[in-house]
Amino acid sequence: MVEQKNPIIGTDAQKNLYKLYSTYVSKSKADFFKSLGLGVIQGKREGIYITMLEGTRKNKPPLNLIDCRTSGGVFNLGHRHPAIIKALKDGINAGLDIGDHHLISEQRALLAKKLADLLPEGISKTQFSVGGGEAIDLAIKLARYTTKRKKVISAKSGYHGVTGLALGATSARFRDAFSWNPPEYKHIEFGNIESLKKEIDEDTSCVILEIIPATGGILIAPPDYFTQVRELCDEKGVIFIADEVQSGLGRTGEMWGIYGGIYENEKIVPDIMVLAKGMSAGMYPLATTCYKPFLDKVFEKDPFIHISTTGGSELGCYVTRKMLDFISQPQYLNNIMTMGNQMGKGLRKLKEKYSSLVVDVRGRGLMWGVEFVNDRYGIGYTLQMIQNGIWADYCGNRENTIKLMPPLIVKENEMTEIMTRLEKAISNLPPPIE
Ligand SMILES: Cc1ncc(COP(=O)(O)O)c(C=O)c1O
Repeated sequence: MVEQKNPIIGTDAQKNLYKLYSTYVSKSKADFFKSLGLGVIQGKREGIYITMLEGTRKNKPPLNLIDCRTSGGVFNLGHRHPAIIKALKDGINAGLDIGDHHLISEQRALLAKKLADLLPEGISKTQFSVGGGEAIDLAIKLARYTTKRKKVISAKSGYHGVTGLALGATSARFRDAFSWNPPEYKHIEFGNIESLKKEIDEDTSCVILEIIPATGGILIAPPDYFTQVRELCDEKGVIFIADEVQSGLGRTGEMWGIYGGIYENEKIVPDIMVLAKGMSAGMYPLATTCYKPFLDKVFEKDPFIHISTTGGSELGCYVTRKMLDFISQPQYLNNIMTMGNQMGKGLRKLKEKYSSLVVDVRGRGLMWGVEFVNDRYGIGYTLQMIQNGIWADYCGNRENTIKLMPPLIVKENEMTEIMTRLEKAISNLPPPIE
């Protein structure tokens, strides 16, 4: 039987699609991938796989890549999970659309209640956004309103998005070109409590930190770091914002990185928790700013002061609620723990075997960083991974480190295949020059 041509995906030859993208979206991005010999136009995707439309221009890697990037956790449930497709269809068939954001929303209320049940105790309020940056913006606004202070402290290598207030907290690489360096934003060394002690004071509104900085290089803070951050914030009356955009929703093997996901015995409750990426279930964009009720005063005064027309769409809320139902099943976290152990063990073995190339392996659950001897191996290994059927890349602010975040529903035989491909890729790397 001849396979029917897909009427939407892969409608033209790869070179024509590159041209189209180059002319109307971004020439430099198209040129970047071309210069690496990569044809990475995403075609069909299903489960843990992404199929690229036509392979590479030069040496044709396998078309089916296992997605170990997952766009930083967007595809926690893999691509197009049947339960999520069903939720989207059910929502449409039941009569949902985006909804009028000024009206009372049943779907927002039900999702917010579900979140309150899952979040660490005390975090019970939710506001909705389209993406992570917007949700971080609101977190900073809540902190500033409540404390009546301006100063914002974040990590130098952190990433919190590129919208206005969030961009100030993101690393210099993303700010400087836009001359966006507001003096009230201060940047510290992640994981170094002395660095925070020097900066935090009675003018500080909030400290915002990723729990495992991803763009910064999958960094694991020393034990007690977050306990001390919490204590310092309490001491100075500062709001602690946990950015769980990548580390939340089970990624670490616990539901929340800050609440037992990094160190089992450290269950810290921040004042605000920001969730995005995986909240979309890979299907419908949605992000949330979840917070303790004492931060709600600004909305008590004026419920119309912070608006997002399409943030918290009723359809998206329904899809996200179904995603949360799925991840609330005990086997979900159990699988992440088991698969995470398998991945961690495998990566440590690779470090031993290729000790002249790999200097560190670190992570939790299914969020791992593999650090190479120098930056060139970051791009070099990325290319090798693609050649060997793995889609993953290096960390934007630490280019010697590869970030591995497979779907959280990955199965044992699939993990074995991932590890085989990762080893094949590493075995093709040249030794470092003495
Ligand atoms: C930790 C973290 N916070 C916030 C964001 C911003 O999310 P978005 O791209 O949806 O605005 C990102 C995006 O990569 C992120 O990784």
